Amino acid sequence: MRALARLAVTTLLVAAPLTAVTAAASAVADPTPITVLTSDFEDGTVQGWAGRSAETLAPSTTVAHGGTGSLSVSGRTATWQGPSLDVLDTFVKGTAYTISVWVRTASGSDNARLSVERRTGGVAAYDQVAGNTAVTSGGWTNLTGRYTLATDVEFLRIYVETASTTGAFFIDDVTASYVPALPIQTDIPSVKDVVTEFPVGAAITGAETVTEHGQLLAKHFASVTPGNALKWDATEPSENTFTYTQADPLIAWAKAHGTAVRGHTLVWHNQTPAWVFLGADGQPMTATAEDKELLLGRLENHIRNVAGHYGDDIGVWDVVNEVIDESQADGMRRSTWFTVTGLDYIRTAFRVAREVLPAATLCINDYNTNVAAKRDALFALVSQLRTEGVPVDCVGHQMHINVSWPSVADTRAMLQKFVPLGVEQQITEMDVSIYTGSGESFPAPPADRLLQQAYVYRDMFALFREFAGEITSVTLWGLADDNTWLDTFPVTRKDAPLLFDTVLQAKSAYWGVVDPSKIEQTPPGTSGCAVTYRVTGSWTGGFQGEVKVANTGTTAWTGWTLTWAFTGGQTVTQLWNGTVAQSGTAVTVTNTSWNGAVAGGGSATAGFLGSWTGGNPAPTAFTVNGTACTVL
Ligand code: XIL
Repeated sequence: MRALARLAVTTLLVAAPLTAVTAAASAVADPTPITVLTSDFEDGTVQGWAGRSAETLAPSTTVAHGGTGSLSVSGRTATWQGPSLDVLDTFVKGTAYTISVWVRTASGSDNARLSVERRTGGVAAYDQVAGNTAVTSGGWTNLTGRYTLATDVEFLRIYVETASTTGAFFIDDVTASYVPALPIQTDIPSVKDVVTEFPVGAAITGAETVTEHGQLLAKHFASVTPGNALKWDATEPSENTFTYTQADPLIAWAKAHGTAVRGHTLVWHNQTPAWVFLGADGQPMTATAEDKELLLGRLENHIRNVAGHYGDDIGVWDVVNEVIDESQADGMRRSTWFTVTGLDYIRTAFRVAREVLPAATLCINDYNTNVAAKRDALFALVSQLRTEGVPVDCVGHQMHINVSWPSVADTRAMLQKFVPLGVEQQITEMDVSIYTGSGESFPAPPADRLLQQAYVYRDMFALFREFAGEITSVTLWGLADDNTWLDTFPVTRKDAPLLFDTVLQAKSAYWGVVDPSKIEQTPPGTSGCAVTYRVTGSWTGGFQGEVKVANTGTTAWTGWTLTWAFTGGQTVTQLWNGTVAQSGTAVTVTNTSWNGAVAGGGSATAGFLGSWTGGNPAPTAFTVNGTACTVL
């Protein structure tokens, strides 16, 4: 990256007074991100980076992502070795950083990961910021992820490692930025005070329990579900070695705040380490008596340890998760659990959980239970298990839904179906995606989708409250839109499925739950843009330019796509602070990971080099996110 081309960092403090009614608007603009670190390797030094072991780090001009310099990493003897940077004095606990790095191999291909090593009391823990991403020698690949430090540490370094080979690689243009949190709204009703028929909960990671996030969680929610911390890969990564470093602080937080806990999950086909399904011979298990005994033994040991570790501190468990596949004649998912043990893994899991926790509510949890074929298969299984005496107390409906699906009628049928069984029912993972198909992607949540979403929350919560005699808990899969699994599932795009926005302010969706009469009071934000285009230098056949996009409306952008036409035969040859695509005369520039959020009144600037033949006329028309802009 060219140092001079870095986006100017500005902090925008939004201090609009919030009354109970204007709070409904919550049109608080996203503040501009603040960049806390940049490593561009343009000055011929390693800029503070060091190897994790004895590998060699050196400034390089062999390849560069931007400018002429990058950092070369060679002499690696293990995949976990790689360049690392001390961020102990840079990162603040409770702040969500977006970290971005560009990676390119010296030769060959591999997968690269962006990770964090932290140490507390001398004990190391490793967090993944960006998972395995294919990298090659043919071009640069971006690794971007979000990271929030949730504990006190005495050691904190970010690093890049690879998955399988130890070859040399390059990194360049590392940035870390954050969007300043806003104070939470204290003058709006708490969800848990309004909805009292059952506890309303949120799925959490450590990041949700500290600073403003922790305040928001404590104010509104009566229950929490660790989103990943209790899964098998987190609690028993290798056989009979149990670790509770992720989950213990969350359960402690819940205890300290008098918050209920849903345990998720004891048995699943995902996020379960590979060793679980390897036989004594190290080969994948098959349907033999020997493998079945070994697998059920591992299952029993896992449940005795994990459920036993928390005892009565966790009152509800998702004992088994997602075991149904309605496309199978018998309705059962063909997981290794099933192919090796048949239904016995489910029987064993519930029996052992009941033995360890006689007082807990034991659930079978699944998604799409609003789909008739799926709920019928689940119903048949639960009926059979209960007839056999298997202690299934509760059916969990995940409710990962979207703004146009499913209907209230189908959701009612879902709840109604299980009433005759006399089981408890829980909504366990609700979120309402703003997308209605995997082909959609919006740079910012459109106002009409957010309104639709508010009505979905209104209607679904009204239905849940109608079924208060059956439903014993409703959990949302996340606290606020700044941290949702839907940002990367089923594809990577910004989603906004929860009650609070990315800066923790109440959305219309919140009012859908708390007071639907206030939904309509959300004034639509205004939109508008202005573009300034300048040629900053020009020589025979080439030129340097700069283009600034300004958000002249009041609705923040969470991303921007700028277009113009080069009618004089110009071609962009290189661009910084954005990503460029040119097809004929049509130029499209999109934001980078760190300059996509532009508050109302804010702006972002990209610079570029171009070639030209004939003339170099300035473009006369620009669009941002599909809307024509004023040209300044
Ligand atoms: C998701 C988590 O939220 C993600 O962080 C993780 O990467 C994948 O799993 N159904 C479930 C949950 O039962 O465990 C899943 O949680 C979401 C779908």
